[in-house]
Amino acid sequence: MRALVWHGKEDIRCDEVDDPEIEHPRDAIIRVTSCAICGSDLHLFHNLIPAMKPGDIMGHETMGEVVEVGSGMNGRLKKGDRIVVPFTIFCGDCDQCKRSNFSVCERSNRNKELADKVFGHSPAGLFGYTHLTGGYPGGQAEYLRVPFADTTHIKVPEGISDEKVLFLSDIFPTGWQAAVQCDIQPTDTVAIWGCGPVGQMAIRSAVLLGAKQVVAIDCVSERLSMAEAGGAITIDFKQESVIDLLQELTKGKGPDKCIDSVGMESHVSLSQPDTLYDRAKQMMLLESDRPHVLREMIYVCRPAGIISIPGVYSGLVDKMPIGMAMNKGLTFRMGQTHVNRWTDDLLRRIEEGQIDPSFVITHTVGLEDGPEMYKVFRDKQDSCIKVVLKP
Ligand SMILES: NC(=O)c1ccc[n+]([C@@H]2O[C@H](COP(=O)([O-])OP(=O)(O)OC[C@H]3O[C@@H](n4cnc5c(N)ncnc54)[C@H](O)[C@@H]3O)[C@@H](O)[C@H]2O)c1
Ligand SMILES: [Zn+2]
Ligand SMILES: [Zn+2]
Repeated sequence: MRALVWHGKEDIRCDEVDDPEIEHPRDAIIRVTSCAICGSDLHLFHNLIPAMKPGDIMGHETMGEVVEVGSGMNGRLKKGDRIVVPFTIFCGDCDQCKRSNFSVCERSNRNKELADKVFGHSPAGLFGYTHLTGGYPGGQAEYLRVPFADTTHIKVPEGISDEKVLFLSDIFPTGWQAAVQCDIQPTDTVAIWGCGPVGQMAIRSAVLLGAKQVVAIDCVSERLSMAEAGGAITIDFKQESVIDLLQELTKGKGPDKCIDSVGMESHVSLSQPDTLYDRAKQMMLLESDRPHVLREMIYVCRPAGIISIPGVYSGLVDKMPIGMAMNKGLTFRMGQTHVNRWTDDLLRRIEEGQIDPSFVITHTVGLEDGPEMYKVFRDKQDSCIKVVLKP
């Protein structure tokens, strides 16, 4: 089959590779009908997350038709079913899965020992996302093996397009979880850094959850326009002071809730020049992540507010103003998304027409155009916001 394969920094190719096979009774194989490129894939593209190996298949936002199942499906999944595959692989019966903490499933990371050493305790296995999280082949491919497939799936009802449900795999529940973790009150101002696909979903979610005011921050004009169309007031961090404007919009009190939908590769803003320092340290491998957005959020957040972090961080950050956070009594909530905790509710909202997540798609191409689209998406060329691949 054809698949998008990681060969090293900024080197992803569409290669011919072996078809996946059933390896375990709980496995299923799907024929991929649609998959997408995520901001998390860019961190791998830039080789900023350790433990990728040449030959790894990329991709964790995937859906398709079940073409083969193992013997251990317990009637939960059969050939011909149409499913979205959550990026977090989960067993469904460990202690964490019982608590719906699916992104920290205790069984699905087959490289658990390595991850235990690096993280203290291992998180779940993830598709197409480094050997620290299982080294599972990803879904930017013609076929995908889904481990623990009897639990790791979202069944798609008849008559609903791929585009409407594909993002249940990741970015929609990710934006949703980021907003839910903010315990949004009707009096709240929610400030959201980053208007990429995750930020867009967080904006829509914060609006759906009834925030009084949603403020979105980025520097890319078409992303800011999309944020505005979703109900946000926007700030261009290259043109305006994020801190001054957030203070103004909250009568000097600061936003009640702050969401970081940027993560480890944040760019410099007018307010603070610290990103230059982080960039230098990251280049010299003295710091793995650039926490500019985190510092800005901690500074501007209203005391007793909540900082919600869906943006991915991989390792160590420097100069974190923990004293500021402590004395203001801030609450931090973060993590890879517990996808299936949210997807029944979100699928219902899609079916009821409350939201159609396909609004974010700007490009639909074949798998062979994938390598080029990584660059287009990264560089925001051609007004690119979200790429869907049709293998
Ligand atoms: N927690 C999870 O489970 C989960 C799931 C999916 C994605 N993610 C992470 O979410 C983040 C966003 O993903 P995406 O697909 O939207 O990526 P993206 O790269 O398309 O979007 C990031 C956006 O942040 C903007 N940005 C950069 N510096 C900024 C700054 N200083 N202030 C405000 N905005 C700034 C960029 O212009 C860009 O539009 C990534 O870190 C990704 O890894 C996490
Ligand atoms: Zn993702
Ligand atoms: Zn589990």
